[in-house]
Amino acid sequence: MNEIRSVAVVGSGAMGAGIAQVAAVAGQQVVVFDVSTAALDRARKSIAANLKKLAEKGRLSTAEALEAEARIVFTASLDDCSSADLVIEAIAEQLDMKKKLFVELEARVAADTILATNTSSLSVTAIAAACEAAERVVGLHFFNPPPLMALVEVIRAVQTSEEVAQTAYSLMESWGKRPVWAKDTPGFIVNRVARPFYGEALRLLDEGIADMATIDWAMTKLAGFRMGPFALMDYIGHDVNYKVTESVFASFYNDPRYKPSFTQLRLLEAGHLGRKTGRGFYDYREGAVMPAATEEERQGWLICNRILAMLINEAADACHWGVASRADIDLAVTLGLNYPKGLFAWAAEWGAANVVSQLDYLYEQYREDRYRCSPLLRRMAKEGADAVR
Ligand SMILES: NC(=O)c1ccc[n+]([C@@H]2O[C@H](COP(=O)([O-])OP(=O)(O)OC[C@H]3O[C@@H](n4cnc5c(N)ncnc54)[C@H](O)[C@@H]3O)[C@@H](O)[C@H]2O)c1
Repeated sequence: MNEIRSVAVVGSGAMGAGIAQVAAVAGQQVVVFDVSTAALDRARKSIAANLKKLAEKGRLSTAEALEAEARIVFTASLDDCSSADLVIEAIAEQLDMKKKLFVELEARVAADTILATNTSSLSVTAIAAACEAAERVVGLHFFNPPPLMALVEVIRAVQTSEEVAQTAYSLMESWGKRPVWAKDTPGFIVNRVARPFYGEALRLLDEGIADMATIDWAMTKLAGFRMGPFALMDYIGHDVNYKVTESVFASFYNDPRYKPSFTQLRLLEAGHLGRKTGRGFYDYREGAVMPAATEEERQGWLICNRILAMLINEAADACHWGVASRADIDLAVTLGLNYPKGLFAWAAEWGAANVVSQLDYLYEQYREDRYRCSPLLRRMAKEGADAVR
């Protein structure tokens, strides 16, 4: 495998522009391609502004910022990507579109060029299947915004060669990122393990157990999360957040653990997408009054423990099914989701047996498969934190 010296980024939206900036700052020659010249223009401006800001803050010298900017070429011709050692695709999240692009790329690039996809929810294996040399395809899942988020999930498709996977992983380290290995399963690590943070909070709301302000208060003030689930869903936008939940639910053959909520669907249907439209769970319009939380600690901890137990169970189950190691899951949730601590670390602190009791209590109450305890968590409760999967 050749050393990676030049990178092409296909798609210059939020992710593509950020990835191009990261690559250029790391010293790569970068070509950015997009079908939209307006998007290319926006990317050029936002990268230049970001680099200027980094120089002003002293994170880069002015010369380094200018050199990084000069290393990036913007183009509306896919042919200009042909000499790249690595192509990172960050176009719209549509399988047919991505497959078509990979066929077009393969017809242009060298035999040993690595083709990476930044997909969040599609199967890397399905994208790779569009290629003649599918072993050159790998998943490189960056987080938004790529220059600020250290985490990158590296995903081996069924076809990916070990050499390609290792090269991609090492390259991310050399770019100053923190790569983690994730199996090619729906949501990889982060978009799977985070589901209960939203799903169980919605369930508490839908059942009338607590209101959103109280749930957000408990999760921030007691459990230490930066944002409560409802404030965070409003921030992400219900178009994005609901769609991810729906896609994970469908991809897991309707596993009830990932069941979407009608309440969130209704917000989406109403166009109340969250902060960006001025209304979501909360009302952000001028003069609107935020609902007050009932700040009662005992009730607050009941809320936190239920959501935390579901998160820990999800982390344990992801490990049980070989999606990722415990260390990588804990890194992924702290770096990719800004959780106050890793979920395995939390399980160790709380005691796996206590988490199991909480889940078994919920299962007894509801008799729903949603609350089934992961076999790994049960083993951890019996054999200790290092129980093998
Ligand atoms: N936004 C996020 O938070 C996030 C995080 C991780 C991964 N992703 C994934 O990254 C990818 C891009 O997401 P985004 O948020 O940057 O999208 P975006 O809509 O901001 O940008 C996509 C860009 O791709 C361009 N494009 C579309 N089809 C193209 C084609 N055939 N060839 C070249 N350019 C094309 C569009 O013109 C647009 O500029 C998606 O697969 C998404 O799932 C997004």
